[in-house]
Amino acid sequence: MIVQKQNGRVVPVEGGSASKFKMIAKTMMGFEEILADELREMGASNIELLNRAVAFEGDMRLLYRANYTCRTALSILKPFAEFEANNEQELYDNIYRIRWEKLLDVDCTFMIDSTTSGEIFTHSYYAALKTKDAIVDRFRRNFGKRPTIDTENADYKFNLHIADNHVTLLMNSSGDTLNKRGYRVGVGVAPINEVLAAGMLKLAGWKADCNFYDPMCGSGTLLIEAAMVANNIPAQYYRGNNFAFRRWKEFNLGEWKSVKEQEDRKIGNTDFDYEIWGNDIDPQVIEQAEKNLQFTKLHKDVMLHIGSFENQEPPEGRTLIVTNPPYGERIKIEDLNGMYEKLGDTFKRLYGANCEVWLISSDFEALKHIGLHPTKKIPLLNGALDCRFLKFELYDGSRKAKYQQAEQ
Ligand SMILES: C[S@@+](CC[C@H](N)C(=O)[O-])C[C@H]1O[C@@H](n2cnc3c(N)ncnc32)[C@H](O)[C@@H]1O
Repeated sequence: MIVQKQNGRVVPVEGGSASKFKMIAKTMMGFEEILADELREMGASNIELLNRAVAFEGDMRLLYRANYTCRTALSILKPFAEFEANNEQELYDNIYRIRWEKLLDVDCTFMIDSTTSGEIFTHSYYAALKTKDAIVDRFRRNFGKRPTIDTENADYKFNLHIADNHVTLLMNSSGDTLNKRGYRVGVGVAPINEVLAAGMLKLAGWKADCNFYDPMCGSGTLLIEAAMVANNIPAQYYRGNNFAFRRWKEFNLGEWKSVKEQEDRKIGNTDFDYEIWGNDIDPQVIEQAEKNLQFTKLHKDVMLHIGSFENQEPPEGRTLIVTNPPYGERIKIEDLNGMYEKLGDTFKRLYGANCEVWLISSDFEALKHIGLHPTKKIPLLNGALDCRFLKFELYDGSRKAKYQQAEQ
């Protein structure tokens, strides 16, 4: 159901499951273009890049597919109401007019996430409260009962977005954010967000046409994401049925199953014949990585080593190396600069022209100690940490001569 404002009223526009509607895929800073590519590949139309999000159009099948297969989306939202509100009363009245009973059952639970900007609605929590009041008042007056709020595990998650006087209501079709892939049974000390890992792999150009190596793999997130790409395993294959759209009134089990089956049929249907290796100095995190790999049944595809990175050669042949070393934030290292210097030395000594190295870090001072010129520097966020994702191209032979000190 899309609701639009006509002649000052908020009115619903019905659409069957085959009809197209607008959606918003949320992502992380810097991943907008790669997410747009993912959506384009699965048939999305009218794609528009937004700030940490991509707008696109498609039908319900695309909504299911985007949730199931997008590696760099955090959630897929479906806008269903848009109107203008110049004060709280107008917000309440317009929300009250929406035919919520077409969306929700009276005995369901719901929650509202809100973001506001501009001078009219300055408290997002208060705007969400007004919205909640209007919804429950409408139910109470029409049915004598009301749905309840559940901030943990609601049947319906709504996003309320207000920019100045422009109000948009969206239904969150994903529920839990899509980085919750369902495979993290073992947790390391500082695991990287799965969507961040998947986006880094895409930016690094991982196409599963060479070896992959993470010399500081922790619980193995980059390894698993890389192996999932190599084996055509959908991003949410291990998530089970944990999608909010399954609780929607318009949910069509047959169509969801057919989309899922179509995607699952591609699993293993690849020519991947390379090696994926992980290494970490900490035996306990390697144990967690092993658990995750066993759970995903990718343990035969990924080899793990325990040891310090400077003692471990990468696999032979062309190898993409993507890694997430300690930044000194969650993992305290006594001499972080010294560690990054050792990393640079290892790149020069053990990795050759066959290797391309990508590394993410928020410690800009430590990064200078790698002593190599990055050929790419991409700003990314790891949680709230401002990071750089750097690419280092390496050479054989007179390697050292080609390396200059990184600019101070
Ligand atoms: C930020 S964590 C990596 C997290 C990983 N990406 C994950 O998702 O779990 C950094 C890892 O570097 C490892 N480490 C620290 N010093 C190391 C060294 N000298 N050699 C190899 N690994 C090291 C730590 O044990 C830790 O697991």
